[in-house]
Amino acid sequence: MLEIKGSVAVITGGSGGIGMALAQKWLESGGRAVIADIDEKALATAKEKLGQNVETYVCNVTKEEDNAALAAFAMEKMGSINLVAPFAGIIKDAMMVSPDRETGKVSKKMSLADFQRVIDINLTGVFLTVRECSEQMINNNCKGLICLVSSTGSMGTAGQINYASTKAAMSVMPKVITAEFFRRGLSDKIRCVAIAPGYVGTEMVKNMNQKALDKILADVPIGRLIEPEEVATLACDIYRNEALAGETYFIHGGLRLGSKG
Ligand SMILES: NC(=O)c1ccc[n+]([C@@H]2O[C@H](COP(=O)([O-])OP(=O)(O)OC[C@H]3O[C@@H](n4cnc5c(N)ncnc54)[C@H](O)[C@@H]3O)[C@@H](O)[C@H]2O)c1
Repeated sequence: MLEIKGSVAVITGGSGGIGMALAQKWLESGGRAVIADIDEKALATAKEKLGQNVETYVCNVTKEEDNAALAAFAMEKMGSINLVAPFAGIIKDAMMVSPDRETGKVSKKMSLADFQRVIDINLTGVFLTVRECSEQMINNNCKGLICLVSSTGSMGTAGQINYASTKAAMSVMPKVITAEFFRRGLSDKIRCVAIAPGYVGTEMVKNMNQKALDKILADVPIGRLIEPEEVATLACDIYRNEALAGETYFIHGGLRLGSKG
């Protein structure tokens, strides 16, 4: 089992919902954290709330140089990286093509910009954060976990061709990274997993169309949104338990999975 006490987490999207909840849990367990976010103001507020043992770093995860600087900053300030949690993410939902109900002809399409933006942050951004932090971890002999965040959206949710594609990628990355580290004799030192939440009560979900949200909740056996703290607890438990590697762990209150159209 790994100890969180004294260990260092690098969390992107760390001033928002799940990232912030993870930072809180991590610090409560005696860890230290670097939280990174594009939202400078929210980062300052988060720092105030989290108190000591936390450093903040303004970072746009889509930029290669920002990720390299974040990983270097974490090593320099904290002396180690033990948990990498690239949780920065966005949604930009729309149907790929929407035929008009009266004419039957396509009247709306998901824009390339909305497709690309989600890929840039949720996929390319994660790749860059993980690559740069892994480099620092390997070069500095750090032990720990890369914890990606997938989603039940990875099973295929209508209106989320951009988001669901990135989250499906998050479910395969732990297998690729674990296999690569295994080949190089690193997999006992650096594990990689993904957690896949259902609908969590953060800004991302609260900003959803209420009618759509009510419809979703009707399919959740526990009858409510997942709390960010519940997801954070799962990430901490996986960190401690070294038998957990290369897999995606769902946390969704029994949500019926798959596309229901
Ligand atoms: N909320 C849910 O129901 C849910 C479910 C499954 C998975 N997830 C995933 O969990 C992660 C966190 O989601 P959340 O609900 O906490 O969202 P959130 O919107 O509360 O927080 C996301 C954070 O990412 C930051 N961010 C956005 N773009 C960025 C960029 N380019 N660079 C750096 N930071 C950036 C935002 O400023 C924000 O603080 C996301 O990857 C999301 O897809 C969320």
